Amino acid sequence: MILGIVQEKGGVGKTTTTINLGGWLAKLGARVLLVDLDPQGNLARGLGVAGAPGAMYRVFRDPAFEIIHAIQPTGYDRLDVIAADTALEAAEIELISVLSRESILRRKLASPDITSRYDHVVLDCRPSVGILTVNAMVAADALLVPVETQYFALESVQTLMTVVQTVRETLNPGLRIAGIVPTKHEPRVRVCQVSLQLLQERYPELLTQTIIRKHVAYPEAQMRGAPIHVAAPGTEADDAYRALAIELLGGALPEPPPSVPPLRRGRRPERGGGVAQPGLPLD
Ligand SMILES: Nc1ncnc2c1ncn2[C@@H]1O[C@H](COP(=O)(O)OP(=O)(O)OP(=O)(O)O)[C@@H](O)[C@H]1O
Ligand SMILES: [Mg+2]
Repeated sequence: MILGIVQEKGGVGKTTTTINLGGWLAKLGARVLLVDLDPQGNLARGLGVAGAPGAMYRVFRDPAFEIIHAIQPTGYDRLDVIAADTALEAAEIELISVLSRESILRRKLASPDITSRYDHVVLDCRPSVGILTVNAMVAADALLVPVETQYFALESVQTLMTVVQTVRETLNPGLRIAGIVPTKHEPRVRVCQVSLQLLQERYPELLTQTIIRKHVAYPEAQMRGAPIHVAAPGTEADDAYRALAIELLGGALPEPPPSVPPLRRGRRPERGGGVAQPGLPLD
């Protein structure tokens, strides 16, 4: 399953969700690859990984560059990452005139190196809908939309839904919304209550049961470079992302972890490499 974490609005918890949801999917037994599509480059940093410079830029700009060479281990079981940095900003502009530019990521992620190695790929998008985010929407099976329970929450989701509809009509007819997840929620704050209620009324089918509350534990975990299940195990902040992971897995806990061969850098693709057999449908 390829899951895009998208929302045009900044600071709503896309990267936090990528790290902690991805962290929990891996802890529950899935093999997970996290991919940073944001030149801000916060994803690898939030996992304590010093990203390889220009990794994601090369994925987009060099057709011969195999995506496996961009992958780095995080040090956490079954959890790998592809880092981004400011170099990726250039790709957004350079790709404007490139043929089939919207499906570069889809083609790269279709490599047997990825499909045989990972059950889930989670794409952390930037807070805008340019060519990088469109690539995520074209590559993804489903999107998860974090929404801060604040003023304009509805508007930000509506804008995104229009883009999703266009992508469905043109480039990725099968694109699903896995859920709209309320984030940074403060149950005692009136504006949060009202915003949540409006979201519930407008998107009853899409809103996740799990609500991510505002907890200082999240920025603290990112500062330490650790997923929340490592930085603050068993806390309410940790339980929220565990619940979200289980909800997205359809309530079913995964099979025991499969054994994964350690990642060797510079490995060439296996001949006739297998096609993914994801044991963990997210729907
Ligand atoms: N539930 C939460 N409670 C408290 N702080 C949070 C929560 N979720 C995220 N944060 C903090 O808010 C800030 C922005 O979060 P994050 O980077 O995940 O958002 P983003 O949507 O990825 O931002 P951008 O659009 O810039 O990529 C970070 O400092 C993060 O630690
Ligand atoms: Mg981010």
